[in-house]
This record gives sequence, C-alpha cells and structure tokens, in this order.
Amino acid sequence: MSHVVQEKWSSGTAFLLAAIGSAVGLGNIYRFPYIVGENGGGAFVLLYMAVVIVFGIPLVMTELTIGRLKQVPPITAFTQLSEGKKSQPFWTLVGFTSILTPLGILGFYFVIAGWTLNYVYSIITGKLSDLQEGQTQQVFADLMDSPGTLIFWMTLSLVITAFIISRGIKAGLERAVNILMPLLFLILVSLVIYSAFNGGMVETFEFMFTPDFEKINMKTLLEATGQAFFSLSLGSATMLVYGSYLPKDISIPKMACGVAFADTFVALIAGFAIFPIIFTNGMELASGPGLVFETLPVIFDQMPFGQVFGIMFFLLLAFAAITSTISLFEPAVSNLEERGIFTRRKASLVVGAGLWVLASLSALSLNVLKDWHPLTFNDTLKNQNIMDLLEYLSANGMMLVNALLAAIFLGWIVNRKAVLDELGLGDSWLFKFWRTIIKVVVPIAIGYLLLDFLGYGFLTAE
Ligand code: PHE
Repeated sequence: MSHVVQEKWSSGTAFLLAAIGSAVGLGNIYRFPYIVGENGGGAFVLLYMAVVIVFGIPLVMTELTIGRLKQVPPITAFTQLSEGKKSQPFWTLVGFTSILTPLGILGFYFVIAGWTLNYVYSIITGKLSDLQEGQTQQVFADLMDSPGTLIFWMTLSLVITAFIISRGIKAGLERAVNILMPLLFLILVSLVIYSAFNGGMVETFEFMFTPDFEKINMKTLLEATGQAFFSLSLGSATMLVYGSYLPKDISIPKMACGVAFADTFVALIAGFAIFPIIFTNGMELASGPGLVFETLPVIFDQMPFGQVFGIMFFLLLAFAAITSTISLFEPAVSNLEERGIFTRRKASLVVGAGLWVLASLSALSLNVLKDWHPLTFNDTLKNQNIMDLLEYLSANGMMLVNALLAAIFLGWIVNRKAVLDELGLGDSWLFKFWRTIIKVVVPIAIGYLLLDFLGYGFLTAE
C-alpha cells in the first residue's frame, strides 16, 4: 500500500528534540501551573509525577513501539499488526479514530496558540502597559469578543504549522525544532533566573513540594492523569507517527524516559518561572486559566524590564505551542501521503483548510457562537459550546480511549516476540514488568477512570 518511502529522523537527538517539542506545549506552561494552583500544590505535583512514571513512560514506549514496528502511519500500523486476527477491522478503526483525535485537539489548540501570538504583539505595541489588575481582564475579555482578531492570529499559527509540515520531516519538522527548542530552553532559563532575582523562590518550593494528602481524591487523580496524558502527547497518534520515523537502532525505552523526564522538568520549571512572581506580588494563585493571560501581564507591567520579559514569556508559549501543533498536524498528513491520496504539500493544504474551518468555529464559540450548544442529548455536554466540546471530547475523552486501546493492542494482540525484539530490553524483568503494566494495570486503571468520565460518577460521587 505504501506509495512513498517514509522519511526518518536523522538521529536520536533529532527525534528527541521533536518529541520533546511535541510534549512541551501549552499543557506545560499554560495549563500545568494553573491546575497546580487550583489543586493546592504539592500533593498534586507528586501525584502527577507518579502518574508520569507508572503510566506515562510505559505508554510512551507502547505508542512509539506500535509506530516503529512496521514504520508506517497509524492506520496502516494497526491494520498490519493485527493481520490474520478476527478483530482486524476493529483495530483499523482504532487507527482511524486516533488520527481524528489530534485534529479535534487542534480545533481548540490553534485558537489558544493564536492568543499567545496576539499577546506578543500587544506587549510590543504597548497595549498591555500601564494597566491595573482589572484592566488586563478587560484586555483579555476584549480579545475573546473580537472574532476577527481571534481568527487572524489563529490563522497565523495554522499557516506556520502547515508550512513546516509541507516541507517534510528533515527540511520541515527537524529544522523547526532545531531552531525553536534551544530558544525555548534559553527563554525558560532566563525567566527562572529573572524570577529568582525577584524573590518568592522559597514559597514556590514549599508550595510545589509540600504535599497535603487530604487534597488527593479520585477527582484529582483523574485530573492528574488527564494532564499527564495531554502533556506527554499520548493517545493522539503523535507518538505513533513520531515513532514510525524513528530509525531501528535507537532505543525506545531510553527515548521514552528522555521525553517524559524533559516534559515533566519543563512543567516544573514553568512553575518556578511563574509562581515566584505571583507570590511576591501577592496575587491570587487559584485563578484558573486567567493565571497566564490576566494575572501575569499585570505583574510584567509593574516589574523592572517587565516588558522584555513579558514578550519573552509569550514568545516562549508561542514556540512551545508551534512545536506541538506540528506534531498534531503530522498524523493526518502522513496517512494521506502514504496512501497516495495527496502529495505532502496538497495534504498539508487540505488538512489545513479543514482545520481552519474547525478552529474558526472554535474561535467564534468564544463570542458570537457562545451559546450554541450543539450536543444536547447528554447532561455533561449540553452546556458546552464548540470549543468546550472539542477540548472535552478529544483532549479528555478520546485521548484516554486511544491510549487505553494502544496498550491493549500491543499487550494482547501484537506478537510478543516482535515487541520483545523492538524494545531491545531482552526477556528481562524490566520487559516483563512493562508488559504487565500495559496488559493489566493500564487497562484496569484507565478503564476505571474512563467509566467515571463517561458519567457513571461512582468515583466522584460525594
Ligand atoms: N503535549 C502538548 C502540550 O502539552 C499537547 C499535545 C497533545 C501535543 C497531544 C501533541 C499531542 O501542550
């Protein structure tokens, strides 16, 4: 079926940069800090790290392995690896839904990526200077109320992404991450140093690492798991596709640990960049999504060199977002290209056009379509507009489903010997331990969380 020979990453480092680029995104720098804030700090951070180690690393290994076994895009991978099984049509379908999930995520992710670009512009042009606290809320609210502006910046992030994708793995993705990832790291380190000079580090340390176990319940567990999966780019075909470009001589377990470590490290560091300035300025931490777009701009406005650091901060967010959007865009393009349906360039254009419509609807659901709730048949869904739905269904629901199915697939369907050879761990206790996790522990635990998600509610019922 393969019409095109797939390009490969030129080295393990190239893969690592791209995969870390995918993992590190709005999830780490925008979402992680405010969820930690909302969940009271230390206990949540510990729980999060536990989830990354117990489920995250084994699942990243799982998805990379499924991708690399046949070195083909996701749909074909599921089909070929279930050759001769009665359940083959089902697994082909699983491949298909795992391609749709990242498109759903992009439907809202591009909009937020657009906000970050808009903020860089607003700080440069002085729109966020000399403001009081309430006024930044107004600036943000005004942005949400401007369909044209939202769509403009969303389109810019989409065009940049589609352009990078259209150039292919080496000339597009690799080059982009080679430039963006070092910059991202440099900015992040500068921000932490800047924060450190302004005080608040001790409080931050205490806040992030003093656990109050009373704060842990099933709901926080679900939230930590969702956040970890989102942050590690699981259940969204990304790791399948990035794995399919991974040369055979590179160790999957090592790569998986590298990605998980770097991703968690950046999330924590983002906390160390943001919390100290919040603490020293006596601002509210539990302010939810407003933390980055409403609270931080006030502080940047008041601090020495705040404008420079404000620009750097939102550029950091924008870069992190772009290295993630390319990884969400790639699965669909890779499938279309492999099937010979379109050339890579045409595929980027077609997928881009479809996504533009979806992301525009999402941008409009912040204003003119705010009260349009398309799905009314279910209690949880009936009050959600398009952007809410995309986030809820793709980032919370489908990601868990896909990751769960990938684990069941590799654990129960794919030939054990093939998996053993692919991982290169030998028939060791480590291999057996990993396999038990994906065969038994993940299905039970994630299945349990999913039942809750589906509204059975026996976990969260108080
Ligand atoms: N991991 C990215 C983030 O933290 C989001 C993402 C999810 C990217 C799924 C790819 C796949 O922002």
